Amino acid sequence: MTEHTELLNQLRTVVGEANVLTEGDLGAWEWDWRKRERGHALAVVRPASTEQVATVVRACVQGGVSMVPQGGNTGMVVGSTPDASGTQVVLSLTRMNQIRKMDAANLTVTVEAGCVLQNLQEACEKAGFLFPLSLAAEGSCTIGGNLGTNAGGTQVVRYGNTRELCLGLEVVTAQGEIWSGLTGLRKDNTGYDLRHLFIGSEGTLGVITAATMKLYPLPASTLTTFAAVPSLDAAVQLLGLAHQHLSSGLTGFEVMGRFALSLVVKHFPQQRVPFQEIRESDAPYCVVLENSDHDSEAHARAQFEKLLESAIEAGCVLDAVVAENIAQARQLWHIRESIPLAQAQEGLNIKHDISIAVSRIPQFVADMDAALEAAFPGVRLVNYGHLGDGNLHYNVQAPSNADAEEFLKTKEKPINALVYASVDQYNGSISAEHGIGSLKREKLQEHKSPVALGLMRSIKLALDPQNLMNPGRVIRL
Ligand code: FAD
Ligand code: MLT
Ligand code: ZN
Repeated sequence: MTEHTELLNQLRTVVGEANVLTEGDLGAWEWDWRKRERGHALAVVRPASTEQVATVVRACVQGGVSMVPQGGNTGMVVGSTPDASGTQVVLSLTRMNQIRKMDAANLTVTVEAGCVLQNLQEACEKAGFLFPLSLAAEGSCTIGGNLGTNAGGTQVVRYGNTRELCLGLEVVTAQGEIWSGLTGLRKDNTGYDLRHLFIGSEGTLGVITAATMKLYPLPASTLTTFAAVPSLDAAVQLLGLAHQHLSSGLTGFEVMGRFALSLVVKHFPQQRVPFQEIRESDAPYCVVLENSDHDSEAHARAQFEKLLESAIEAGCVLDAVVAENIAQARQLWHIRESIPLAQAQEGLNIKHDISIAVSRIPQFVADMDAALEAAFPGVRLVNYGHLGDGNLHYNVQAPSNADAEEFLKTKEKPINALVYASVDQYNGSISAEHGIGSLKREKLQEHKSPVALGLMRSIKLALDPQNLMNPGRVIRL
């Protein structure tokens, strides 16, 4: 009998023997996606209903055992895996994957937390609606994880982050009570908006079990362009023109540095990346731009042509390919979405998920590129991201001849210090969309105001006084 035998037996009674995993290879739940850290779980528990989640939480609270809510485990900041103690329960929501209700007139869908994002997108499309949240991990991330991190992705420029798409939540509190807030209301000023507390709280305040999300009409046509641009300034100029010409039709605006694209060419040679023949010094960046049109394809193409004409005339586009059909559009998007995977294949790396006012991004990048290259000769800068939202993945890869693990060990701290000091100077954020997890917890202490940190601590302690919900993540108590 171990210290936790009684609790484990209790959990088996609640969710069934097969859904309390304690033996065998638990790597899928214990390693974070980036392979930065491996934890060790007391057990992985897989409830199938809200009531089961609530009972599991109450049992853990009674046993004084902490819990780590987990969805698809695609998070970037080591927030969804257990610590190394072997005393935490991973609460995996993936069996709770049902779409409970689609309300066409209200333009909402109510879905369980463990539903994989792509399955939700496809079900909505089949019903004639668009669910616009979109990110490269959509084949395995879950709506609960998207809400837990307030995920961004590639459609934020038009539809906002996950927060903006959510009209209600069902949550199991840190005490094991059920809060049913699946109202689907677009207006509700009855006091504090609890939904917004749980969104982006990274599993530290409670467990999201279901959500009511906004739907949109499917566009009549979607056009995707891949353009080579002569500078980052030109990319920002192109973004301005795209807003002007396409207005709310602008649904995606991503930027990719040429080194980031070269990693896709290297690791996924079957992909055809446009403009390889153009010298990097002539076109140091490429852009993927998407236009959704509610009129017709002809209208979309006409608008796009006007935009490209004025962009070429202004000198902010060197060359562009416009997808002829959906398959081509997917290929172009696939190039952009393959960058994080190509980067992972290239080796361990340092990620900076930063946001800065769009207008100031070119200056920030010019300053930072120069500072990093001077301080860490040979360093490789993998710069790409959601320029339309002012959100860059300004990542750093070890020099090609260096040992990546050793590089991270000795250089991650000073590189982070340099980048984040500059982000502060530019009034930016050190985490635009990935969250804090444990990877950035100490950084948050340095970069958030003491007043804000104090308020966050008060909220955490009010909702989870025993500190059993994903302890050690986001906020240091
Ligand atoms: P997990 O990784 O399992 O969990 C993430 C956090 O949410 C953890 O703190 C966890 O405790 C908490 N959590 C999970 N489920 C619940 C729940 N039911 N209730 C409460 N808390 C919960 N992110 C972006 O924002 N934009 C991108 O463009 C993007 N692209 C990505 C591309 C790739 C290739 C990969 C691997 C990741 C990408 N991410 C991106 C990061 C990640 O996919 C998102 O953060 C995603 O929202 C996480 O969902 P998940 O289900 O995997 O959550
Ligand atoms: C992306 O935009 O591709 C993601 O946020 C993932 C990453 O930054 O690696
Ligand atoms: Zn991103």
